[in-house]
Amino acid sequence: MADYKTSTVYQIYPKSFCDSNGDGLGDLRGVIQKLDYIRELGVDYIWLTPFFVSPQNDNGYDVADYRAVDPRYGTMTDVENLIVEAEKRGIGLMFDMVFNHTSTEHEWFQRALRGESKYQDYYIFKEGKPDMPPTNWVSKFGGNAWEYVPHLKKWYLHLFDKTQADLNWENPQVREEMKDIIRFWKQKGVKGFRFDVVNLISKPAVWEDDLDGDGRKFYTDGPHIHEYLKELTADTGIAELITVGEMSSTSLENCIRYSNPAEKELSMTFSFHHLKVDYKNGEKWELQNADFLKLKEILSRWQLEMQAAGGWNAVFWCNHDQPRVVSRFGDDEKYWKQSAKMLATSIHLLRGTPYIYQGEELGMTNAPYTDISQYRDVESLNYYAIMQENGKSASEAMNILHERSRDNSRTPMQWSAAPNAGFSEHTPWIEIPANSSYINVETERREEDSILNYYQKLIALRKQERIISEGSISFSHLDHPDVFAYQRTLDRQSLLVFNNWSANTIVLDPLPSDREKILGNYPDDRQTDGKLTLRPYESIVYRVSAMN
Ligand code: GLC
Repeated sequence: MADYKTSTVYQIYPKSFCDSNGDGLGDLRGVIQKLDYIRELGVDYIWLTPFFVSPQNDNGYDVADYRAVDPRYGTMTDVENLIVEAEKRGIGLMFDMVFNHTSTEHEWFQRALRGESKYQDYYIFKEGKPDMPPTNWVSKFGGNAWEYVPHLKKWYLHLFDKTQADLNWENPQVREEMKDIIRFWKQKGVKGFRFDVVNLISKPAVWEDDLDGDGRKFYTDGPHIHEYLKELTADTGIAELITVGEMSSTSLENCIRYSNPAEKELSMTFSFHHLKVDYKNGEKWELQNADFLKLKEILSRWQLEMQAAGGWNAVFWCNHDQPRVVSRFGDDEKYWKQSAKMLATSIHLLRGTPYIYQGEELGMTNAPYTDISQYRDVESLNYYAIMQENGKSASEAMNILHERSRDNSRTPMQWSAAPNAGFSEHTPWIEIPANSSYINVETERREEDSILNYYQKLIALRKQERIISEGSISFSHLDHPDVFAYQRTLDRQSLLVFNNWSANTIVLDPLPSDREKILGNYPDDRQTDGKLTLRPYESIVYRVSAMN
């Protein structure tokens, strides 16, 4: 399998990818049917989000059995076939390990509820009075993070939904269980893993109220996190595979340790600071325009410091929890095509491993829902109520969901202009935007200048130009209000990458005369008096001899 630095990863959310049996839900056979499409894209790995047995309160991030396939998605034979068929096409599978918590329907939790102390120690149960949760911590999905179990007279911790009970990683038996699950899937031929909110697994020794926050400072990048990751990696032999940790509210310093090969923890990390630049005062449910200078400041700092200290970033705009990037940072109407390609260039040529979330390569947009009944996501539904309890009107709350809901990314993959976007024969579990009439695989395959073809070029370029995976990075124009520009250098060559994040026309400094254009989202390039001119949302990449 390909080295993780030269690879591109494609994320599949199976529920919304392709429905092979006409029940309105995507499934594993649907993924198998589309493997040729993924091979054509040119990616090396598929990160498949959870398909394990689950009540689906959080669409599979509430796992009730880590070794069994939810019948809604298929069977174990389907998983095995998927691994084999992907491998035939040179694609490795990465599975999603949700190890911070289990579903409360998991057998361990059920036995804990029945009073078995062994299994109560698998979770975080605290004795207490029904009206006094052990701490004031807030769940990431809203409300207090503790749930009371009257017959046990105990509270249990859930940093997410109350049906997602946090595991007790201090208990060595829990750590052994997790390792066994990894070995189980590794033996089946899985080539890598994504670890869900893995920097939240190490909880503090003392349980106390957070007087100025929601509790995250006590458990984020917690006291034993590095030990636990080292142990997990060493004891399961996954150091040679591709691994990525989802790091919630993490720090650069910790991400360097998680991803520096010498530490033998993970190949790389997802961090989210650059995706909070449109949160007002850091608050997801308050809108503000994206702060572009801040975005560049964060991305460049992470890039430079990871480079200096030998860390490695997963680079991305989209996943199943984020709104669609073309709607968020681009212009999904007038400059839909240009801005989608510009955003792709901006992220793919950074130093790190790029991740593409299904449909991003088509320029899929946010969901144009106008009624709360169209939303499905537990977080969105909870916050719709919470925002109104806190004084927002129903229409303000709907506006915010339109920008922030995780359902924006969960609408079905748009395969064609056929009914249900070619995703299913049946009405899908969640509504499809009307723009599937022109934003779809079939149409974009035919159009030479489509977003889809541009992604294909970018993925191929990474294989052709070692400079993209191995080169060093430096930034310029960091204080420019519209331009995101950087330079990659290896041996005696540099790539100069320019991205115009606005609808303005920008004139920049003169460029070296020996430049060669290797990529762009306009058919030609334009100079004014020897100066580079960037048109609305233009991206352009030149190769030049290294300047130093
Ligand atoms: C991660 C997942 C998200 C899930 C949460 C709890 O953030 O990406 O979808 O809801 O963890 O498992």
